[in-house]
Amino acid sequence: MKDALEQIRSEALANLAAGRDEAAIEALRVRYLGRKGELTTVMRHMREVPAEERPEMGALLNRIKDEIEARIGDALAAARADARQARASERIDITEPGRRPVVGRLHPLTQTTEALVDVFLALGFSVAEGPEIEDDYHNFEALNFPADHPARDMQDTLFIAEPDGRAELVLRTHTSPVQIRVMETQRPPLRVIVPGAVYRHDSDTTHSPMFHQIEGFLVDKRVTFGDLKGVLTEALRRFFGADTAVRLRPSFFPFTEPSAEIDIGCFNCHRRGGSCRICKGTGWIEILGAGMIDPNVFQAVGYDPEEVSGFAFGMGIERITMLKYQIDDIRHLFANDVRFLRQF
Ligand code: FA5
Repeated sequence: MKDALEQIRSEALANLAAGRDEAAIEALRVRYLGRKGELTTVMRHMREVPAEERPEMGALLNRIKDEIEARIGDALAAARADARQARASERIDITEPGRRPVVGRLHPLTQTTEALVDVFLALGFSVAEGPEIEDDYHNFEALNFPADHPARDMQDTLFIAEPDGRAELVLRTHTSPVQIRVMETQRPPLRVIVPGAVYRHDSDTTHSPMFHQIEGFLVDKRVTFGDLKGVLTEALRRFFGADTAVRLRPSFFPFTEPSAEIDIGCFNCHRRGGSCRICKGTGWIEILGAGMIDPNVFQAVGYDPEEVSGFAFGMGIERITMLKYQIDDIRHLFANDVRFLRQF
C-alpha cells in the first residue's frame, strides 16, 4: 500500500507541475481526490492493512492528500492569474485614437456622367447601352458613312482584323451606333441617352485613345429643329446653370442633316473673353454636336422618313469634365493617381 501511495503522490505532483488551466486542474482534483478518485480508492483498502500498520498508513495517506490539495490550490491560483493577464492584454483601450477608414469616391468622369444622365432622365429620356466592339455596319455604314467616304477620317478607327485580313469589327469610335441598334429593335416615339466608352486612334493632351461620350436622340412624328434647340438648351441650363447662354453654329455629321455645333457662354468669364483660359478669350465653349437625324439613317433601320423625324446629339465626357474642373491634361483622368482623384 505504501508503494501505491507513493506512486500516486509522485504522479499527481508531476501532473500539477505542468502549467495547466483551471479546467485541467479541476480534472486532476477529481482524478486523485474525487469520490471515485485514486486516493479514495486506496483509502477503501485500509481495512485490509494489518492493524499495527494502520496508523502509519493513515498518517501517510493524510499527508499525501494534504500535499496534493495544497498543490492544487497553488496551481489554481497560478492558472487564474495567467487567465487574468491574458484578458487584460486583450482589453480595448478606449483612449487610443481610432483608425480613420479611407473613404472612396466616384471618379470625376463617373460624376459628370451621372449628373448628365440625371438631367436627361428628368426630361423623360431612358438609358440604353451597346457593344464597345462594333461592326463596321453599325459604326459607319448605317450612319451614312459609306465605305471610303472621307468623313470616316474624322474618326480614325482601331480596327480588329479578321483572320482572313478583312477588318469588319472596330472598337466603336462614337456612341452613335447605339442609335441604330435601338431603332432596329424599337419603334418611335423614342427618347434615349447612351453613355459609354469609345475609342479612336488619337493621343495628345486633350485626346485619349479611350474616352467617353453621351449620345442622345429623340424620334417621333413632327419633331423639328426647334425641339432640338429647346430640349438641349434646357438640358445645358440644368447642367451648367440657369443663366447659361446657348448658341448653335452650322456643322457637318454624315448622320444628321442639318447639323450643328452647340456652344455655351463661358461659365468662367461669363462671355467677357479677354484672357480667359477656359474659352481662350472667345467667350464661348463648344460643348456638343447635334442635328436632325438624316433620312438615310431612318431608311437603314426601316423607318419611313416621310412619317417620322428626330434629332440626335453627342458630347465628350472628358471634355466637359476638363472644362468644369480646369484640368489641363486628359491623361490625369486615367493615371489613377489618388492625389489627383482626391480633389473631386
Ligand atoms: C461625334 O462623335 C458624333 N457621334 C457626335 C454626334 C452625335 C453628332 C449625334 C451629331 C449627332 P465628334 O467626333 O465631334 O462627334 O466627337 C464628339 C466629342 O467627343 C468631341 O466634341 C470631343 O469632346 C470628344 N472627343 C473626340 N475625340 C476625343 C478624344 N480622342 N479624346 C477625348 N474626347 C474626344
